[in-house]
Amino acid sequence: MTFAANQSFSAIRAELCMPEFVRRRMDAHYVTRVQQLLGGEHLHVWKPAEAGAVMLASNDYLNISNHPHLLAAQARSLLGSQSGMLMSSVFLQEGSSQHRLEAKFAAYMGAEDGVLAQSGWAANVGLLQTLAGPGVPVYLDMMAHASLWEGVQSAQAIGVPFLHNDPAHLERQVDKQGAGIIVVDALYSTNGSVAPLQRVVEIAERSGSILIVDESHSLGTHGPRGAGLVAQLGLTERVHFRTASLAKAFAGRAGFLTCSSQFKGYFLSASRPAIFSSCLLEHELAWFDAALDFISAADAQRAALRDVTTQVREGLRGLGYNIDDGSEQIVALEAGPEPKTLVLRKALERRGIYGAVFCAPATAKNRSLVRLTLNAGLSAQQIARLLDACADMRHEVDLEGWSSSKRQHRLTLV
Ligand SMILES: Cc1ncc(COP(=O)(O)O)c(C=O)c1O
Repeated sequence: MTFAANQSFSAIRAELCMPEFVRRRMDAHYVTRVQQLLGGEHLHVWKPAEAGAVMLASNDYLNISNHPHLLAAQARSLLGSQSGMLMSSVFLQEGSSQHRLEAKFAAYMGAEDGVLAQSGWAANVGLLQTLAGPGVPVYLDMMAHASLWEGVQSAQAIGVPFLHNDPAHLERQVDKQGAGIIVVDALYSTNGSVAPLQRVVEIAERSGSILIVDESHSLGTHGPRGAGLVAQLGLTERVHFRTASLAKAFAGRAGFLTCSSQFKGYFLSASRPAIFSSCLLEHELAWFDAALDFISAADAQRAALRDVTTQVREGLRGLGYNIDDGSEQIVALEAGPEPKTLVLRKALERRGIYGAVFCAPATAKNRSLVRLTLNAGLSAQQIARLLDACADMRHEVDLEGWSSSKRQHRLTLV
């Protein structure tokens, strides 16, 4: 037996003796959820896609991940002499390539300064941790990304949820609990809905609260040169912090947050992900540098994405799918209970359409869905294939019985 095989054998044996408090949780997953609820199948396990399948799971909205200029820029960096330093960004020297790229991203977004993080998750957790603390109310839209909730937990602050895209409810919560930190996504990752940013800004200003807007799904795709929805609405000077995952339109692995230069100095000595986790590598910076040039000039790709979005949304609406929770390039087919979403996933898969399953904890328990992420590179044939599949499978997936269809039905009765 090889050394590696030996190692894995002893690891498995150790797992057999897992204490009861973990075993119970694993049973809730494997026994209650997978075996009893889903008949032994796993919601996330798609079959390998055949050639020609329509892939709608990636967040590469502008379809740039295989762009030869960007790959060449990254390859030059990888093969060049600059290997970068394996260390925390706290130790970067003044004028380093990361600092130069941070200034370039900040200028693009119309901000004084900014910080590159290892991921959108690290940017959000680090930011909330440096702003909030015990006793500070943090008002989060119920659909705000999990990384923002995680930041509240790690700051030991008080998370106060408000109803999705409901500024009146936010206002009531703020009036009750006082000034704090308001947190929204500009464009929500589950269903493609857009935050009422103007109203949220007014509530933040009136109450003296800090405002954080996560632009992960709108940076690159929305606003002037792709600078995001806050920029599009002329609100850059009224939003304290904007954060973004660069694993969406920017098609790499990093995160960014805008801030003042003074805040940046504080952040770098207070944010635990910034201090205790290694910084980005040179070839990753080279990718983002080239991607930023490309994306700021990519009006044609942004227009193509809008066009694809309109075609798909109108087509699905015409077929009787309730997709009216959202309006942008993320489209939720919300079947509801997990067994229904499993049937939906398999029906799509059989027709060569691949999306992403979202279920608890990413959605409420009985509002699971398949998310279709559109991109600027989708051809007319691919859109037709998607719509044909959705037309064909309506009976098979029991569209009438979906939670989203029932909601629509109730609304039309009112
Ligand atoms: C709105 C939002 N914020 C933050 C993140 C985290 O980003 P990353 O994947 O770069 O950690 C995501 C990723 O799913 C997201 O959708």
